[in-house]
Amino acid sequence: MENPAVSGKKIAAGKAIEYIKDGMTVGLGTGSTAYWAIQGIGEMVKKGLSIRAIATSVQSEDLARELNIPLVPFAEIDHLDVTIDGADEVDQELNLIKGGGGALLREKIVAQATRFYVIIVDESKLVRQLGAYPLPVEVTPFGWELTERRLRALGCTPRMRMKDGAPFITDNQQYIFDCSFGVIEDPARLHRQVSEITGVMEDGFFIGMASVVISGAPGGEIKIVKRG
Ligand code: 5RP
Repeated sequence: MENPAVSGKKIAAGKAIEYIKDGMTVGLGTGSTAYWAIQGIGEMVKKGLSIRAIATSVQSEDLARELNIPLVPFAEIDHLDVTIDGADEVDQELNLIKGGGGALLREKIVAQATRFYVIIVDESKLVRQLGAYPLPVEVTPFGWELTERRLRALGCTPRMRMKDGAPFITDNQQYIFDCSFGVIEDPARLHRQVSEITGVMEDGFFIGMASVVISGAPGGEIKIVKRG
């Protein structure tokens, strides 16, 4: 039987790619939901759609190349028209926690340059308040022990993300700390506090950035919530 979360993701991705039109510059997200969007965009390109794309990770860039989606360097653009990306949690105000796949820094650089930022999730990612999912924080390796202590002082339990017994290294050659805060009452305030720590390169809060959130359910239902 198909994994229900996967089909919710695929359904949301199928709807999101409808925003992509000829001539656009498109941001390609990272993760298992964005994967379906990139596959869909690849199909559209195969049928003649003309776009240029920027990927938010090496993984998504590799997939785009495999699918013959034309990639463009930042030097040649001043904005992106549409970006489609996943999220780990979405609250009722469309604030997000992202970075489960470790691509948060590149994802936020691309998101900030995007005019219409489309978030796709399966319905299990919709929450009343952020925080059940630990906040990913990208940290520079130099002095990480101090940075970790300062994160802990904000009231969380930071865990260095590991892969195959060694620290997980991002595409930017940095570490990730997954910080469990529990329910986060004021994400904007916490984002400011985390960002003030020297050594923090970026955190996984995407506040006020999503233009629309599309969630898919295994039965095929789609919910679309636009920023008001
Ligand atoms: C990667 C991300 C992903 O969008 C997020 O982790 C959701 O992943 P998935 O679509 O695999 O559930 O932020 O850094």
